[in-house]
Amino acid sequence: MNHVRHPHETVLDSEPPHLMGRWKRDPLMRALTGIGNIWFPLWGSLAPLRETRVDNGIQVLDVVRREVVARDENVIALTFAAPDGSVLPQWNAGAHLDLLLPSGRMREYSLCGDPGDRTTYRIAVRRIPNGGGGSVEVHDTLRVGDQIRIKGPRNAFPLALPGYGSRAQRLRFVAAGIGITPILPMVAIADRMGLDWSMIYTGRSLDSIPFREELARFGDKVEIRTDDEHGLPTAEDLTGPVPEQDAGLTLYCCGPTPMLESLRTHLVDRRDIELHYERFSPPPIVDGTEFTISLASTGESVTVAADESALTALRRVRPETPYSCQQGFCGTCRLHVSAGSVDHRDGSLTEPERDAGYFLPCVSRCRSDGLTVDV
Ligand code: FES
Repeated sequence: MNHVRHPHETVLDSEPPHLMGRWKRDPLMRALTGIGNIWFPLWGSLAPLRETRVDNGIQVLDVVRREVVARDENVIALTFAAPDGSVLPQWNAGAHLDLLLPSGRMREYSLCGDPGDRTTYRIAVRRIPNGGGGSVEVHDTLRVGDQIRIKGPRNAFPLALPGYGSRAQRLRFVAAGIGITPILPMVAIADRMGLDWSMIYTGRSLDSIPFREELARFGDKVEIRTDDEHGLPTAEDLTGPVPEQDAGLTLYCCGPTPMLESLRTHLVDRRDIELHYERFSPPPIVDGTEFTISLASTGESVTVAADESALTALRRVRPETPYSCQQGFCGTCRLHVSAGSVDHRDGSLTEPERDAGYFLPCVSRCRSDGLTVDV
């Protein structure tokens, strides 16, 4: 940038003279200038000790690494760092970031790096060509050197370590495909702390499984099992051998809905076993009935089938409707209802918000014939 001097501009090239004219340069100003000259270069080099700037919950980070982590090339890992190398807000295993993508989409991705590394965040993204477009945007647009706005980290899937908030004596990790991402830091911590743990990691084929090389260091504690070679795993395959009673076991599972449902059903009477899970797809619709959504602005209406979410139906007529988790906890899809009775099925809206007419169409449904939304 060119610096143009204005006629009345005062430029100080050196410290001003002493006010009483006793010294050519004011001693106090000289001392302050000296301190400044030492401090400002030091401040820059202290960046790794400072926490990065967060404005309104949003940080702007650089993409510093991009790598393919599955042999079928459909999964990439992206590493982010603060532009000045400063320290990032802390996170624990199971946490995720919200990526605010250039298109305006927001998508959540689990952190899969080392929680002990305070200067970078790592996520992994599977390309889903027929999804909502978020993963394709990440794959096609985010390159090393780009900047990305993020929110978080937040943790909806925390790990309670045996002896530190959990009575369990053994940990069993169950991951399927890209469900490895929140599990990866959990496994690393369990191993670092010398806990009794094992893991089963499933996928369609060996080539579709991300981070295989990274897990190799755990040897036979990690069982990799692919559908093309072994068929779909049963619930017993997923839990591994379990005693009849008092198993002292806690499971952490991340995978597709059918796998989670099979585990939940299998363990429904086992109060001695804790099951913690995170889905990466919408939950199944239970007792769904058909209803209609009308758009207040235009009077258009759309039918919500018994086995689809109101969000899916809405996006047929308003594809730009924002969403992220599709599980009723991030609040991105929140809409206001001006008529009709909502069947709230989310876990995040407060009573005052519900009373004020808000609902989350990704999971909630309707108790009346239809809803009118302020869209
Ligand atoms: S998309 Fe997250 S609450 Fe609906």
